[in-house]
Amino acid sequence: MKNTVTTFQAMKDKGEKISMLTAYDYSTAKLEDAAGINGILVGDSLGNVVLGYDTTIPVTVEDMIHHGAAVARGAKNSLVVVDMPFLSYQTSVYDAVVNAGKIMKETQCDCVKLEGGKSVCPQIKAITDASIPVMAHIGLTPQSVNAFGGFKVQGKTLEAAQQLIEDAKAVEEAGAFAVVLECVPEKLARKVTEAIHIPTIGIGAGAGCDGQILVYADMLSMFSDFSPKFVRSFANVGEIMSQAFKDYDAAVKDSSFPAQEHTFKIDEEVLDKLY
Ligand code: KIV
Ligand code: NA
Repeated sequence: MKNTVTTFQAMKDKGEKISMLTAYDYSTAKLEDAAGINGILVGDSLGNVVLGYDTTIPVTVEDMIHHGAAVARGAKNSLVVVDMPFLSYQTSVYDAVVNAGKIMKETQCDCVKLEGGKSVCPQIKAITDASIPVMAHIGLTPQSVNAFGGFKVQGKTLEAAQQLIEDAKAVEEAGAFAVVLECVPEKLARKVTEAIHIPTIGIGAGAGCDGQILVYADMLSMFSDFSPKFVRSFANVGEIMSQAFKDYDAAVKDSSFPAQEHTFKIDEEVLDKLY
């Protein structure tokens, strides 16, 4: 059954946990979709994982559309969320609606996600009013890494914790259908989850959230540039890939690949007539 924004709300209301993973391509999206993952995020983490940037800041709307469309083609039942990249919504409410609309039209995704609390509420409201559902994202918001001065746990002081709760309430009020809580202490994430009606999707925010999300390349140990404390490796796919590449290299070099069964035939008669 197709997951929608309504499904997500119903799951929170019934106390059922929501599963999300990122994906950036058709084949991965198909596998996640078939596994029953409720939502697939085409995260701007594709900047790190797929494009090899240090941060998500260089990612463009065109990058998001290119990968978002591929994922949407692979996801039949999962809710497909596409990240709005840096500077595609911060500049104005008008830019936010135009870019959200362009992303939804050109990828056929179900909704968009953007980073920030109170300060982006006018954008969340305007995009939602244009019938484009918005997932919010507060706590550690990687597009603000330069303003934060690094990737750190958020909301640890009284002021920051209070701000996080207010931001969560503000994005709900502005119309967001769900909110990602990234890198916030478990007990604070629990309080946020109880303080609002829309589902919270945690990453590095503990088990009290309504759902969880991980970067798929992290949970498969495929991405080795850095590994946050909150990641659990569910399979060492990076190691499996690495071994397969070595085996292939060896098989090519010792001529054991390709074997007869991988090979196309031609009639000897045709060969004989060649000059
Ligand atoms: O881009 C991304 O992968 C994200 C998740 C970590 C929430 O925003
Ligand atoms: Na993101």
